[in-house]
Amino acid sequence: MGVFLRPQIPADLPSLTGGESPYDDFGPRAAHTSPRPPELDAPGALSVVVTEDRSLAGTVSWIWQHWGPNAASRNPMIGIWLRPSHRGRGIGRDAQAQLVDLFFRHTTVNRVEAHTDVDNIAEQRALEAAGFQREGVTRGAQWRDGSFHDGVLYAILRADPRPPR
Ligand SMILES: CC(C)(COP(=O)(O)OP(=O)(O)OC[C@H]1O[C@@H](n2cnc3c(N)ncnc32)[C@H](O)[C@@H]1OP(=O)(O)O)[C@@H](O)C(=O)NCCC(=O)NCCS
Repeated sequence: MGVFLRPQIPADLPSLTGGESPYDDFGPRAAHTSPRPPELDAPGALSVVVTEDRSLAGTVSWIWQHWGPNAASRNPMIGIWLRPSHRGRGIGRDAQAQLVDLFFRHTTVNRVEAHTDVDNIAEQRALEAAGFQREGVTRGAQWRDGSFHDGVLYAILRADPRPPR
């Protein structure tokens, strides 16, 4: 199962609904569509496409975290949403690994983060398979669907080993 990432186009939007998961209920989200690749230095999103049948699997996105006032102390925090029809086939692992590749190849960041609900075992496994390491529990960190939820913080560093794909 191969996947590739490309900029989102307007025709993707009806399929990129978000939701349909207890861990992804953040309300309406902004569309990221551009004929050009998004700037990695700004918040952004890319579409995930399956190589074999060219079907649209979902979306990966990122925001920026700051761990200090200097520019070197910032890193992307990535997220993913896959259409129900495309879950459970290893696409989550591959798409997130490819997004990590993009950041390490095209920016100077030392670290890429991800964060998921303590109960989202599928995402925790997908992240670990992509090379992320579990760093700790973030208590009450995420407001979602009307209440605060505990999460797990994951990260991969530039020098960390990358699983073979
Ligand atoms: C979470 C998500 C990105 C995972 O991607 P995926 O392609 O479905 O997952 P994978 O096929 O790569 O499987 C990852 C692992 O989780 C396991 N898994 C899948 N669904 C599972 C479930 N419901 N419960 C427990 N484990 C599960 C798989 O067996 C696999 O484990 P393995 O590597 O040990 O075999 C995807 O399911 C999704 O988009 N879900 C809805 C939105 C969401 O939760 N996004 C993340 C918010 S932080």
